[in-house]
Amino acid sequence: MSCALTSLPEWAAFEAAARKAPIQANELRLIQAAGIDLDISGQANSPALTDAAQALLNARDFTQMRERLLTGGIVNITENRAAWHTALRAPAPNQEIAAERQRLNAFVRLADSERRWRNIVHIGIGGSDWGVRLAVGAFGYAGTWRQVHFVANIDGHAIQGGLAGLDPHDTLIVLASKSFTTVETMQNGQRALEWLQAAGVENPYKQVVAITARPETAQAWGVPDTHIFKLWDWVGGRFSLWSAVSLTTALAVKMDVVAGMLAGATAMDSHFANAPIEQNAPVQMALAGVVNRSVLGYGSLNIAPYDFRLSNLVPYLQQLEMESLGKSVNLDGEPVGVATGPAIWGMPGTDAQHTFFQWLHQGSDGAPVDFIVCQQADHGWSKHHKILLANCLAQREALLNGKSYEAALQECLDAGVSQQQAEWLARHRAHAGGRPSSLIVLPQLTPYTLGALLALYEHKVFVQGLIWGINPFDQWGVEYGKVLAGGIMAELSGKLYGNAHDVSTAHWIQAFGQSCGK
Ligand code: F6P
Repeated sequence: MSCALTSLPEWAAFEAAARKAPIQANELRLIQAAGIDLDISGQANSPALTDAAQALLNARDFTQMRERLLTGGIVNITENRAAWHTALRAPAPNQEIAAERQRLNAFVRLADSERRWRNIVHIGIGGSDWGVRLAVGAFGYAGTWRQVHFVANIDGHAIQGGLAGLDPHDTLIVLASKSFTTVETMQNGQRALEWLQAAGVENPYKQVVAITARPETAQAWGVPDTHIFKLWDWVGGRFSLWSAVSLTTALAVKMDVVAGMLAGATAMDSHFANAPIEQNAPVQMALAGVVNRSVLGYGSLNIAPYDFRLSNLVPYLQQLEMESLGKSVNLDGEPVGVATGPAIWGMPGTDAQHTFFQWLHQGSDGAPVDFIVCQQADHGWSKHHKILLANCLAQREALLNGKSYEAALQECLDAGVSQQQAEWLARHRAHAGGRPSSLIVLPQLTPYTLGALLALYEHKVFVQGLIWGINPFDQWGVEYGKVLAGGIMAELSGKLYGNAHDVSTAHWIQAFGQSCGK
């Protein structure tokens, strides 16, 4: 298969159809997937676009590539490995995965039965952090008997704050790092260990757990064998939520949360594997995203979870989408030729409405929005939930349908404003509308529905990578920054001066080198 998207006649046909397809929500387009409703009525739609999409997916060998992903074939070709996170949540996982899961469950059961570890300090970054933060925020928002602190950033204030006020004798340090070399995690881990030692903890290493694809490195670091949980090379860092990295979720909330999330994600995997294209939620979301980004030119995608408990969904999806789709060359190493992964940003509604929704409604760029909401709340204040739901629907409707100049004018005249004043004011009050959005409705926020939601986005990202012809499973850009930081770090410590830098970087290396000591 050639990777050059723009040379495909199927792409030209898709692009032409997408340009002509209206965004009007005049036909209810609802897809049910793993207990979630996806409403894409607010995306570009026409029979011609549907046909062109099918042809484009065929040209991209969608069926074969999906099979390769789901069966653990090599899909990450620049690193020559699978991206087989779906194996971690398979209902009947292989023996190795099942054994690791059992070990983890036994660890949690024992800790719970002994009522040990009142405090958990989870140290990890990126994929070793966001998923767990998201799950703990979603299901532990009302508090649990264990206190959980997350430490990711290398900024020393993070670990300082993360350890502050905790009893070192009843604190478990969870070191989550696939590579077990990530500088933030290793440095923060070292500080946590020193903190245990300084408090006179008898065997500090016994209060450390490691989750990693490099068990021997964790062992060399001092973590006892029984406290090392394995993940595998074929689990991408941003997918590690499905691995033993979720130990913290199990300890902080409960084991059922992890099991429920795995089950929901599996259900979405099965939907993705079997649903026909037109009823396939991840595929339809992916197609809408390609239209919005590569044809209509929207540079970003706004995520608007109308659920306070999902505030960490935005950074979670930022990593999933932007680390995966932030690429400009295709698998042949040639420029893709169209705009790829959008910037992902957002905030829970209704806070978002009072922060940046004005820009979405009337700004010159605008952005497509994924509205995410739960039909049923888990608190007892039905009025709160009604207001939340009303706001979600209203914002979406305003973005879609806008308000015409004529309607705004009439509104002003009805309010008694003079004709001249009304004509002026109406121009300010009119909304263009026609802004694309999807509405994702979860019946309720449960581990199952959250798992399904995350898998929905994962598969969407895979399909978009396939259409664009890029590898969504590597992250060479981030790796390069890490290498440069290593060099600058050496220079700040007074070594290897003379590396080639621009004048500004050279100036600040000198200045910072003097102020922060060797
Ligand atoms: O940001 C780069 C990255 O490799 C992510 O993909 C990953 O989630 C993160 O660093 C942390 O990596 P590790 O789990 O190896 O510490």
